[in-house]
Amino acid sequence: MMHRLVGEARRRAAPVMAGGERWLSAAAEANRGRLEGKIALVTGGASGLGKAAAHEFIQEGAQAVILADINSELGPETARELGPKAHFVPCDVAVEDSVAAAVDAAVARHGRLDVMLNSAGVVGPLTPGTSQLACLDFAQFDAVMSVNVRGTLAGIKHATRVMAPPAGAGGGSILCMASISGVLGGLGTYPYSVSKFAIAGIVKAAAAELSRLGVRVNCISPYAVPTPMVVDQFSALLGGAADEAQVAAIIRGLGELRGATCEAVDIARAAVYLASDDAKYVSGHNLVVDGGFTSYKNMNLPFPTKPQE
Ligand SMILES: NC(=O)c1ccc[n+]([C@@H]2O[C@H](COP(=O)([O-])OP(=O)(O)OC[C@H]3O[C@@H](n4cnc5c(N)ncnc54)[C@H](O)[C@@H]3O)[C@@H](O)[C@H]2O)c1
Repeated sequence: MMHRLVGEARRRAAPVMAGGERWLSAAAEANRGRLEGKIALVTGGASGLGKAAAHEFIQEGAQAVILADINSELGPETARELGPKAHFVPCDVAVEDSVAAAVDAAVARHGRLDVMLNSAGVVGPLTPGTSQLACLDFAQFDAVMSVNVRGTLAGIKHATRVMAPPAGAGGGSILCMASISGVLGGLGTYPYSVSKFAIAGIVKAAAAELSRLGVRVNCISPYAVPTPMVVDQFSALLGGAADEAQVAAIIRGLGELRGATCEAVDIARAAVYLASDDAKYVSGHNLVVDGGFTSYKNMNLPFPTKPQE
């Protein structure tokens, strides 16, 4: 099973550079500066997609990026790695006061908040209590919902408090990490999948009010990216039969889009787009970044490949 998965992963990912790296085209480099002077707060910014987005925000000219994360060891390390424009505040998004305090700290230090990315999330354990409805464990369900859904909602609430008039001037951009597990059923455990469907719904519900206040709110639904969260989950699925690099290769090989793999930077650039004025009329949107994965099912019909005579 392992050999088949690794072999298949290599075959599909072959045209991509080693490590899945991609460089910016000259045109993309020339387009840098799309977040010039912006103040951004990223929950879950210590790791994975939040960290990648924080990095891209800084590359795009952000004045400051606050990493709000529950991991008080990794958070300051990540801030040091990202440089002087990044700083860490401890924050547990499952606790509303903690989110409020992180937002208030950002405003106290920088005078305003322009971009809020709610990336903090957990996948929860993989047990019959999360993967089979008949034995659904509500304690495990509530634990995931309290971070992924309540945490995101708290982020939207407190960002709105400081972005929308009269406290703010409007014009802010709120982003949330949903998932392809919230686009199609069957891709995640019940708690995770339900939480991600909820995020796309929250964004639409919130856009109804926030549009009138001049604040945009959107979400991104990434395909699988080998961040610590997903590598750990796949390692558990594979029963520890693969090392980290093999697991990452398997994850990269699962996509549908030939010649490309889904990397953290792809999600980070989607976040830059939604945060920037390039998306100044985009709100209530779920930007699915999945190489087409959730767009279709294939029946492998024998469609003609040559023009008919
Ligand atoms: N990696 C993927 O393939 C993928 C795909 C779809 C969606 N997502 C979503 O992207 C987001 C980021 O995930 P990731 O893959 O970067 O995982 P990750 O584990 O690398 O990063 C998640 C971060 O959130 C932080 N966090 C967890 N609970 C928190 C809490 N209560 N308060 C504050 N911070 C908390 C963690 O400390 C960590 O730094 C999540 O919402 C996840 O569901 C990830």
